Amino acid sequence: MANSAPTLPFDRRTATYEQIRSDFWPILERYHDVEGAILPILHEAQGRYGWVSENTVRVISDFLRTTPPSVYAVVTYYHELSTEPPADVNVVVCAGPACRVDGGPGLLAEIEEETGISVGDTRRDMRYSIKTSACLGICMHAPVAAFNHRVRGRLRAGDARQLLSAAVHHSDGGQA
Ligand code: FES
Repeated sequence: MANSAPTLPFDRRTATYEQIRSDFWPILERYHDVEGAILPILHEAQGRYGWVSENTVRVISDFLRTTPPSVYAVVTYYHELSTEPPADVNVVVCAGPACRVDGGPGLLAEIEEETGISVGDTRRDMRYSIKTSACLGICMHAPVAAFNHRVRGRLRAGDARQLLSAAVHHSDGGQA
């Protein structure tokens, strides 16, 4: 009997071409004969994996019957599409006007201190990344931050530490 290679668990940061192909191809099938499908497809990939890896680019280019560089050119053109693997917990701190005057800078400082990184950075162990946003849409609840897309408002001293640790726990598959 032939030995078969062990199946690796799917990891969005290290998924192989074959893994991405089998996971993403059913989604790609929905775009058969859709004109201008490349951008919605790339957004689907970004939403699903948190980034657009080289292997994802290859799978998409196979589906669209084009070359990886032509897909990659679109990825790098749109800043909301990332070619960097995501951290476990992606923190977005609102830097909009309402948050700036109502505790936003203090909240950002607390998050930077807790994570040990500065805004714009990803921690070496891929645990956290921090970005800012022009507005997270709930200005009346300033100061506001999002932890892996969960938007939280009226954050006060000490809240960030708790939310960061809950988000890590959640990303590990535990009960938050
Ligand atoms: S200014 Fe912060 S949520 Fe709008």
